[in-house]
Amino acid sequence: MTSTKHIRCIDDLGKDGILEIMELSNHFLEVSNRRIPKVPALRGKTVAWLFYEDSTRTRLSFETAAKRLSADTMNFNVSSSSVKKGESLRDTVETISAMGVDAVVVRHKSVGVPWLLPKWTDASIINAGDGSHEHPTQSLLDCYTITQNLGDISGKRIVIVGDIKHSRVARSNIKAFTMLGASVALVAPPTLLPSSITNWPVDVVDDLDVAIKESDVLYLLRMQLERQKEALVPSLREYTKFYGLTARRSRNLQDSSIVMHPGPMNRGVEISGDAPDLPNAVITNQVENGVIVRMAVLYHLLGSGAIPTGLAPEDEADD
Ligand code: NCD
Repeated sequence: MTSTKHIRCIDDLGKDGILEIMELSNHFLEVSNRRIPKVPALRGKTVAWLFYEDSTRTRLSFETAAKRLSADTMNFNVSSSSVKKGESLRDTVETISAMGVDAVVVRHKSVGVPWLLPKWTDASIINAGDGSHEHPTQSLLDCYTITQNLGDISGKRIVIVGDIKHSRVARSNIKAFTMLGASVALVAPPTLLPSSITNWPVDVVDDLDVAIKESDVLYLLRMQLERQKEALVPSLREYTKFYGLTARRSRNLQDSSIVMHPGPMNRGVEISGDAPDLPNAVITNQVENGVIVRMAVLYHLLGSGAIPTGLAPEDEADD
């Protein structure tokens, strides 16, 4: 296996690393389908969460993944911690580190925080989202979900729609999807495209109705209003009209294409109320795969290094 100490961005893994996580995920899919979905692979290891921004899916799936691998977890809640008393990021990380931790999963509104942490701890760092920069584990679970549903990513047309400018999911996904041989098209109001777009390996398509017809994957993004400092679209109603997956638009999807969304969804804005229930939608599948792929991520960083063939169930290992 390739050795990676941290997963802070897709480039920390590269194509080979992504493919290894996909392969490992197949093993953990088998574990997760067992009656007792738990193995002792990371017994004795401790994983801490450092979430300075809200999260439902990412945090819960990391927690479930760690527990299924029998790791100990250190739950840190910013809103009830000494951060509220003014403790700095450095002091918080050094405190957690002094208690003994093998991996820190961090989410922060500032770009680059995952790169600061190794100055203060020897633990492996996993980026669960740094501002609008990267969110590599979301991208890994998206790659896994596409491969599971379409057989391969290579040669597929992936259309990403919405607030690209503020989306760390889009940045990580564009890197990973193109590394794996997909062609990526972006559809967004010009005000929601970053100025650096000319250097990205993507096409920009103006008309969602045109892009939908040629998409194998339609990937919708949430309007990240919390990161927008000014009104970047005239109104949400206007946005939905041109960039939302409405019931009318969904009829132009190919039968074989899939609809994805990283969550949380704003039903009625980027996606119509019942679109998540379309046969093409794999949004719940993304959530299921979130646990499996994060098991693979934790095992990749903290495990023995060997492909875990024949993982013993928890009780058999208790000798
Ligand atoms: C995304 C995030 O936090 O970047 N959500 C997630 O991790 N599932 C996307 C979003 O917040 O819109």
